[in-house]
Amino acid sequence: MKALVLAGGSGTRLRPITHTSAKQLVPVANKPVLFYGLESIAAAGIVEVGVVVGDTQAEIEAAVGDGSAFGLEVTYLRQEAPLGLAHAVLIARDYLGEDDFVMYLGDNFIVGGITSLVDRFRAERAAAQIMLTKVSDPRQFGVAELDAAGRVIGLEEKPARPRSDLALVGVYMFTPVVHDVVRELKPSARGELEITDAIQRLIDLGHPVDSVVISGYWKDTGNVTDMLEVNRLVLESVERRLDGDVDAGSELIGRVVVEAGAQVSGSRIVGPVVIGPGTTVRDSYIGPFTSVAAGCSIADSEIEYSIVLPRASIAGVGRIEASLIGHDVEVTPAPPTPRAHRLVLGDHSKVQISP
Ligand code: DAU
Repeated sequence: MKALVLAGGSGTRLRPITHTSAKQLVPVANKPVLFYGLESIAAAGIVEVGVVVGDTQAEIEAAVGDGSAFGLEVTYLRQEAPLGLAHAVLIARDYLGEDDFVMYLGDNFIVGGITSLVDRFRAERAAAQIMLTKVSDPRQFGVAELDAAGRVIGLEEKPARPRSDLALVGVYMFTPVVHDVVRELKPSARGELEITDAIQRLIDLGHPVDSVVISGYWKDTGNVTDMLEVNRLVLESVERRLDGDVDAGSELIGRVVVEAGAQVSGSRIVGPVVIGPGTTVRDSYIGPFTSVAAGCSIADSEIEYSIVLPRASIAGVGRIEASLIGHDVEVTPAPPTPRAHRLVLGDHSKVQISP
């Protein structure tokens, strides 16, 4: 069995969260979301992975390399334009050959991995196995309609009036029969070759399409509340590890990771927390469910349930909670007069100020 990982698409900088234009590299607990996908593919016993790339190929290749860090053999498949998920299958036809495969959207996050889902597919070997999850606004997703027995009877991509609240998760498993229907597809109203249409076609032709409803699913929609929540979920399972320097004046409680080259002095850290390489924490409190990335500096401050991205610095500002601090951001106290907020906020920033 092979994997086809989709890390193409056009680069966007719309989200406040990322510096990178590849949405698959948005960090969760200091690690790109794409890496969790690659790790769960490796954990399911798959080695050969085709990574579909587009405009952001250089960034993706710099991060993933030849895949050996994940125990994978990665082959890059260039997609000239983001012409749809089924188009990615089309251009991967020769790479996939006659193998079964899992198609994994690189910006999706499945808590707990995919091993049991792959095992089920290997045992049942339906023409397609799809994963579904309940969502509050199905209009942003592919949506499945099930019959009373739980069989998939229809799929619709981003419907204005969804027939259920069951969204298609971005992990699909296929036998090679999918290539026959992908070859026949025509572009949808949004101009893409839709994998949803390909699966609908398999259903119409009477091929078995299996579905599994899962929980613990996340994708970045630019929503900071969701981002903090998935960060919390991942931090729930970190193990304590102190590779950096922690002085005698500091107290570290519970599952705290201090990466090599980080320095903690005169501070109290209550896990789960990760402190990235080369970061300094001085005379501060870092509370549960906080990720501080590489090269940051935190001094004379308190921060909890937050994400701090690389090279940000926070000094002397009291308490910060439920916040996302971007790359290279500086947070400092204002001079006492005039009493005013002085803000330099990037595009799409959101700020809440205590009056
Ligand atoms: O995330 C789940 C949803 O993914 C499903 O519910 C939908 O049925 C499915 O169509 C898809 O919808 P999106 O519109 O959210 O997909 P998006 O265009 O964001 O692409 C998903 C990933 O695949 C993303 O990492 C970029 C990559 N991609 C996308 C396209 C269209 C490619 O590599 N090539 C492409 O041509």
